[in-house]
Amino acid sequence: MDNKHLKFETQSIHAGGGHNNPENALNPPIFLTSTFAFENTDKVDAVMSFESDDYVYTRGNNPTLRLFENRMAALESGSGAVSFASGMAAISSVLFSFLRPGDKVLVHKTLYGSSYNVVTKVLPKYEIGYTIADLAQPESLESVVDESTKVIYFETPSNPNLSIVDIRKIVDFAKPRGIKVVIDNTFATPYFQRPLEMGVDVVVHSATKYICGHGDVVAGVAVSRDQEYIMSLKFDYMCEFGGVLSPFNAWLLLRGLKTLGLRMRQHEANAVAVAEYLQKHPKVTGVQFPGLENFPGHEIAKSQMDGYGAIVSFEVDGGLQAAKRMVNNTKLFQLAVSLGDCETLVQLPAAMTHRGYDQESLHEFGLTESMIRISVGLEHIDDILAELEQALAHV
Ligand SMILES: Cc1ncc(COP(=O)(O)O)c(C=O)c1O
Repeated sequence: MDNKHLKFETQSIHAGGGHNNPENALNPPIFLTSTFAFENTDKVDAVMSFESDDYVYTRGNNPTLRLFENRMAALESGSGAVSFASGMAAISSVLFSFLRPGDKVLVHKTLYGSSYNVVTKVLPKYEIGYTIADLAQPESLESVVDESTKVIYFETPSNPNLSIVDIRKIVDFAKPRGIKVVIDNTFATPYFQRPLEMGVDVVVHSATKYICGHGDVVAGVAVSRDQEYIMSLKFDYMCEFGGVLSPFNAWLLLRGLKTLGLRMRQHEANAVAVAEYLQKHPKVTGVQFPGLENFPGHEIAKSQMDGYGAIVSFEVDGGLQAAKRMVNNTKLFQLAVSLGDCETLVQLPAAMTHRGYDQESLHEFGLTESMIRISVGLEHIDDILAELEQALAHV
């Protein structure tokens, strides 16, 4: 079925196949098999030479993985996708696929902690260099790239301070110079932002987050419009590095995707209310949320996103001790890393998700030890605001 004309919510339920299931089952089966049998050696030759796209071995492909990949490709406006065992498997494989010894990657100054570690600690072991810059100021791009820069990699909104990078400006700069643009779209999800439509080469996700939506899977995915690249990423990197997603997890992700639009709308409505509440609270000294009109990236976010997401970061009066008092006194919210679950999660990025940054880099990149990050969940907004009120009373 050609699904291209269908709306996002419809595609998230139907795109990529999944009909004609055995026994007329409404839901696709989970193909829990590591290997696939061939009828004869002619079939072996056809599959092994890619004349047929039938299955060989689950580390290369599997019907449940393929359905998830096809659905993600449709939702991100791509032509193909590769699923991975985690977001980090997707990110590191994509970076390795584009970079060679002597090359450099240019990254935004705020990045998820493990991505920052891959760029600053792992890639240099293979003689791949890096440059860190404020990509939210694209005027300065010229001064931070040279002919060895082969990839620009960033998150927008970024983790944990929600900074917004102008995707179109980065693409306009990179394209004529032959630099690949790779975006981590975890915070926005394709429901709110589709970077491939703006010319980005590859979108990566921690599918652990909103795509799953229920906190019970670790997974990643990369999507592109270049089918040749997708085949290379799948067979030269995912398959050979071996970071394959389990079919059971792919099935849970397909289930999560069915409600992605619905969940994102409610997550965001709750986050807007949280950000507005925090902004007025006398004990809160600063709030970072792209939906706030006074947020520096607000206008760019409006121009490239259909919604602002549901992560809010803020500071309380009294620094780190006050921030600890607040998070130690939450009852409904859970003190936990990760995001995008139904439960509201609260954490201190400098002590948790971004612990890999040294003190100097933390300050240089505009992160503080006392920043609190909330992944606003799907509980009733009255209960979320009451919880904030009682926790802030301890500050
Ligand atoms: C923005 C972002 N990208 C990537 C990752 C890594 O994903 P995973 O934990 O699925 O490997 C995370 C995890 O928190 C994240 O927040």
